Amino acid sequence: MYENLLRPLLFRLDPETAHELSLSALRLTAKLGTANPLRQTLPASPRTVMGLDFPNPVGLAAGLDKNGDCIDGLAALGFGFLEIGTVTPRAQPGNPRPRLFRLPQAGAIVNRMGFNNAGVEHLIARVRQTRYRGILGINIGKNLTTPVERALDDYRAGLKAVYPYAHYVTLNVSSPNTPGLRSLQFGAQLDELLGGLMQEREELTGEHGRRVPLALKVAPDMESEEIKALASALVRHGVDAVIATNTTASRDGVEGLKHADEAGGLSGKPLFSRSTEVVARLADALQGRVPIIACGGIFSGADAVAKLGAGASLVQVYTGFIYRGPALLPEVGRALAAP
Ligand code: FNR
Repeated sequence: MYENLLRPLLFRLDPETAHELSLSALRLTAKLGTANPLRQTLPASPRTVMGLDFPNPVGLAAGLDKNGDCIDGLAALGFGFLEIGTVTPRAQPGNPRPRLFRLPQAGAIVNRMGFNNAGVEHLIARVRQTRYRGILGINIGKNLTTPVERALDDYRAGLKAVYPYAHYVTLNVSSPNTPGLRSLQFGAQLDELLGGLMQEREELTGEHGRRVPLALKVAPDMESEEIKALASALVRHGVDAVIATNTTASRDGVEGLKHADEAGGLSGKPLFSRSTEVVARLADALQGRVPIIACGGIFSGADAVAKLGAGASLVQVYTGFIYRGPALLPEVGRALAAP
């Protein structure tokens, strides 16, 4: 139904308009509760990761519901967990439009949204309103106007604000659309960020009587030595999970296609193998000490099985969900639930 009927209509619209329209529709149908025609259930396939109990391993990746406006609508589709954000301490407009491009021949998207979001207070108000009681990750970043040397201030402010409302918090240091952000993945900058946030988490654990796991979301554009260094930093700082990966700066597999040369991050099918390779290398370096959540180019059950085969414990989808619609979820759910 989605691929034959709805997608052709949506894909005739400007991508961001289609996105807004789809989220509005999900919000409306969610109001129907048990009569919601989009409601679906995935096969039970429980996993415990980061000390949290997931009903199934199929998650929504960050960036689709940046403000937490559509939590109940998305939850009705059967996801085992939702990640909302990236949210920044203060609201910001993001880059000028157009900033979102489809590459349908490649099953891909290029985006340079630039963390457009309504700010952390708005997101918290939304989370407080939701009926959803499943696993909610909140993905935090820094404002564009905060210099990268002061990034820790923004992540700390974000962590403090969302802490009482999140099952886990993701530190997004891998968006290509905030200048300098990805330098936080390496060396002294990474140590300073993780050191500061782990200390903050200790204090928040005491204050709230609850230890909220922290995940780090990384880019696929890393050399193998960089991956090894990253893995050792994750272990050293006691990070609870790594999400691999965000979008890529590479244009491999889309050369010559319309919109391929737009600035931004590439996601979807052309990202699949690069991203899976990062999962495999991280798994090799981590040896089970830090769980991996795989994200990047999952368009089928077989793709998700390959991510687990490479060493991931959970998966997240974004671009595949745009192309395949809600039917992707039970397909992936069944593939991962199979004994
Ligand atoms: C994203 N992604 C993203 N990631 C993140 O951590 N914070 C964000 O705000 C966003 N925003 C965003 C917007 C758009 C339009 C897209 C397509 C993607 C990245 C996303 O969560 C995911 O990591 C990548 O897209 C790779 O997975 P897929 O899309 O290939 O399944």
